[in-house]
Amino acid sequence: MAIRNIRENGDEILRKRAKEVDNIKEERIQILIDDMIETVHAMNGVGLAAQQVGVLKRIVVIDIYDGNGPVVLINPVILKTKGEHEVEEGCLSFPNQYAKLIRPKEVEVEAFNREGEKIRIKAKDLFAQAICHETDHLNGELFVDKMLPGTLQIVKPEEIE
Ligand code: NI
Repeated sequence: MAIRNIRENGDEILRKRAKEVDNIKEERIQILIDDMIETVHAMNGVGLAAQQVGVLKRIVVIDIYDGNGPVVLINPVILKTKGEHEVEEGCLSFPNQYAKLIRPKEVEVEAFNREGEKIRIKAKDLFAQAICHETDHLNGELFVDKMLPGTLQIVKPEEIE
């Protein structure tokens, strides 16, 4: 396993549509998934989409640190959403930046897991938010596209004396 470099805002790959994966069991896909999990954990992130590590494949990993993760979603499709609420959000491709936006409170998503099995997940709150954020990435959409005007905050890491 290896930690991969995160592509940051301004890198054009973040604006591209990722392609469906049809060879889930292939070794390089499995290695990519392992690396994405290691990378998101190393960055203390909640989620990561493959194009954030420079690979245009429809793969996301999510871990909300509730003991059930990490969750791997391949070719995810959001089937239903329910409710909405205002949330604060950041992104590993936008270091130290946060904004508020409206996300669904609940989502139902269909995807394949890393074994190639079709799965369906009902998620709410932070897990639902992460699924929306990461599936947006796969379509080249970023959280700043949807942020409520005037809510972008840039938090500078404290200077070390
Ligand atoms: Ni992101």
